[in-house]
Amino acid sequence: MLPRGLTAALIAAAAQRGLAYFGASLDARQSSEEPFSPPYYPAPNGGWVSTWAEAYEKAHSVVSNLTLAEKVNLTTGTGIFMGPCAGQTGSVPRLGIPSLCLHDSPLGVRNTDHNTAFPAGITVGATFDKSLMYERGVGLGEEARGKGVNVLLGPSVGPMGRKPRGGRNWEGFGFDPVLQGVGAAQTIKGMQSTGAIACIKHLIGNEQEMHRMSSVVTQGYSSNIDDRTLHEFYLWPFAEGVRAEVGSVMIAYNDVNKSACSQNSKLINGILKDELGFQGFVVTDWLAHLGGVSSALAGLDMDMPGDGPIPLLGNSYWGYELSRSILNGTVPVDRLNDMVTRILAAWFKMGQDQDYPLPNFSSNTEDERGLLYPGALFSPVGIVNQYVDVQADHDITARVIARDAITLLKNEGDLLPLRVNDSLKVFGTDAGPDPQGLNSCTDKGCNRGVLTMGWGSGTSKLPYLITPQEAIANITPTAEFYITDSFPSSIEANDEDIAIVFINSDSGENYITVDGNPGDRTASGLHAWHNGDGLVKAAAERFSQVVVVIHTVGPIILEEWVDLDPVKAVLVAHLPGQEAGYSLTDVLFGDYSPSGHLPYTIPREEANYPSSVGLLQQPFGQIQDYYTEGIYIDYRHFLKENITPRYPFGHGLSYTTFEFSEPTVSVVTPLDSAYPPSRSAKGSAPTYPTTIPPASEAAWPASFDRIWRYIYPYLDNPQADAAVANSTNKYAYPDGYTTEPKPPPRAGGAEGGNPALWDVAFSIQVTVTNTGKRPGRAVAQLYVELPESIGLDTPSRQLRQFEKTGILEAGASETLMLGITRKDVSVWDVMVQDWKTVVGGEGVKVYIGESVVDLKVECEVGGRCSIL
Ligand code: NOJ
Repeated sequence: MLPRGLTAALIAAAAQRGLAYFGASLDARQSSEEPFSPPYYPAPNGGWVSTWAEAYEKAHSVVSNLTLAEKVNLTTGTGIFMGPCAGQTGSVPRLGIPSLCLHDSPLGVRNTDHNTAFPAGITVGATFDKSLMYERGVGLGEEARGKGVNVLLGPSVGPMGRKPRGGRNWEGFGFDPVLQGVGAAQTIKGMQSTGAIACIKHLIGNEQEMHRMSSVVTQGYSSNIDDRTLHEFYLWPFAEGVRAEVGSVMIAYNDVNKSACSQNSKLINGILKDELGFQGFVVTDWLAHLGGVSSALAGLDMDMPGDGPIPLLGNSYWGYELSRSILNGTVPVDRLNDMVTRILAAWFKMGQDQDYPLPNFSSNTEDERGLLYPGALFSPVGIVNQYVDVQADHDITARVIARDAITLLKNEGDLLPLRVNDSLKVFGTDAGPDPQGLNSCTDKGCNRGVLTMGWGSGTSKLPYLITPQEAIANITPTAEFYITDSFPSSIEANDEDIAIVFINSDSGENYITVDGNPGDRTASGLHAWHNGDGLVKAAAERFSQVVVVIHTVGPIILEEWVDLDPVKAVLVAHLPGQEAGYSLTDVLFGDYSPSGHLPYTIPREEANYPSSVGLLQQPFGQIQDYYTEGIYIDYRHFLKENITPRYPFGHGLSYTTFEFSEPTVSVVTPLDSAYPPSRSAKGSAPTYPTTIPPASEAAWPASFDRIWRYIYPYLDNPQADAAVANSTNKYAYPDGYTTEPKPPPRAGGAEGGNPALWDVAFSIQVTVTNTGKRPGRAVAQLYVELPESIGLDTPSRQLRQFEKTGILEAGASETLMLGITRKDVSVWDVMVQDWKTVVGGEGVKVYIGESVVDLKVECEVGGRCSIL
């Protein structure tokens, strides 16, 4: 494999390290020894789960007829900029299998036209609305399909918000594993119902943007995560995604416990494929591939965009090198067969063999005609953009989500909702358009005008944008607009005047730096950009009534002005996408009550967080990022340290009020053992002959027109590679490498883990009544508190369920049912390597509230409930 020396060195570096920090060892958790990711081989084959059986059968019959080169072609990208999408695999035209298009983003089809720019993940999380999460997934899937995207690269649940300054927290659903897990599962189900393959990302520990990537000159940071924290926090949403039958998983750039995620056998083989029973395929993040044999053995199934260490040279760690490593006997044929079977099984499972469109757009140009392979030195030209309109009526879903996410933090004297004839003066560039034009910055790498999304690959172009300025002007023609971030000194205010001040805070992906922020919020910190604090303070000096509207990627510090007397109302509108304007005026003018809730805590100061969650930088050597705070992230930390934040997780006011009544708890599936019942045995999986294929299968086809720099599976002299298969000069396999299958992990058994973990143990019923004067929607947030008898320190509240009412008219009621599973009341036992609960749920307490501190109901499971 190329370059063999480098690959071997990387394997050795990944494999030769001290103690099993990541693995089963309990000692390791308390140990100060070096982090270590233990070897886990061989890669488990897919196909043993009944709901995938038909897809695997179809895949098996195709794979049985593929040549070596055809198989390799489906595992490897054709090279960066070698097609219309962010990445594409090779194809098998002979059998009607196209080049698969893998393309961003989690909020809309990226870098194209006539698409919907949906609200970002963090906005969807703030709705606390499962059906809206699903509907957005359907819309995303329909648009991906309409554009010919086979694999849409989302949802994102890693990062998880460990670092409040982290650049890409906004792509996910919030700083809590359950909110992320529900958001991911609903999105995946919605997306995949349309035939698009979802790709949950980035597994795992990609919590800061700076120094995430390894390359020939630098090494990405190592996220050093102990086994319990990994299971109870960071892996949780991935388990939910796998349970939702996600078709693909994207591996993160960084190392975990000093082994790069793309070749971390414990992570991919052990945790994802064996314990979580993942049946789809594992793909690298872009250019995260660091070694050929190492990654193949560690369980990687697809390399994107296909390039080796230096892109655009036509070199790859896989492609022709994977063909070679099969012929020379290094990578078992069985491993390649499993890679391709997994990829095709996902393709068949989503029905992509039936009339799935080919890509009809190019993310490389807006022109109708263009280069078919822009990365090639000489490329044929053809029609690349057909401008297919895929928006349908998705603007409705986008607007409802943006509206139902709006989170009212404060509303003194019921200043909101506004009336149409109020005297309004609107301030801040965040209310207006980008003066340089819609989509004027590539991948939203600038912060001009209303902030609709962060920046980077997690974006899409705005097909149009109704700004808050336009929406307000359309409702109340008398409003005056000062679209500037410097408060105009000439402004005079009367008592009845109301100032609406728009501010924002942005962040994004590391390949773009905006205003000194290299993805992560280094320069801005958690403060508003563009003098936002100054603008609010100046408005508060002149006006006696100030409303602040915030568009933000995550927590933002409000302390300089939030307690000023004129600041009566504060709204967080998150990242609303294309429907920024009307979703806001729907709420500002009272057509709808706000019903969003904070998907993170708003602190009083950054010092409120543990120091371990700060950004890390160092000029030389690998950054070691120790997750010493464990599962005490966001509200769990604030509660543990008894720190009162400015606004707690889950907070969000309405124009009306709600009462929670008649709570009852009932046992559904008794927890009569501490550990779940034994898993069932794995079903049978497809098998193939294990003989090395003839060398001729990897030879260049006769009279083949090569595109220079394109990545192919062919070898110039395959016979020579095949000839060394029996030589004694064997490849240096990583320590612990074996082809002997491991006993199935006891925590596994189905997609996501042992299915008994999702048995509903208890069910809580509660009635919610609108006790105010206006219609509105309430969210019941269910938190659990585990008893000391569980034997481990646990957070005093952990979100485990939520439900949202429909729009309740004044006086109306709705009864909500919230189920609590075995997993919800368990901890990860690192010694036993399984989830452990307290028998009978003895001592488990459940709270239902409107935020993590605003609790309305308390229940002893197996006992009674009371109103607080
Ligand atoms: C890198 C990003 O980390 C990932 O999220 C994205 O899907 C790929 N680039 C492809 O654009």
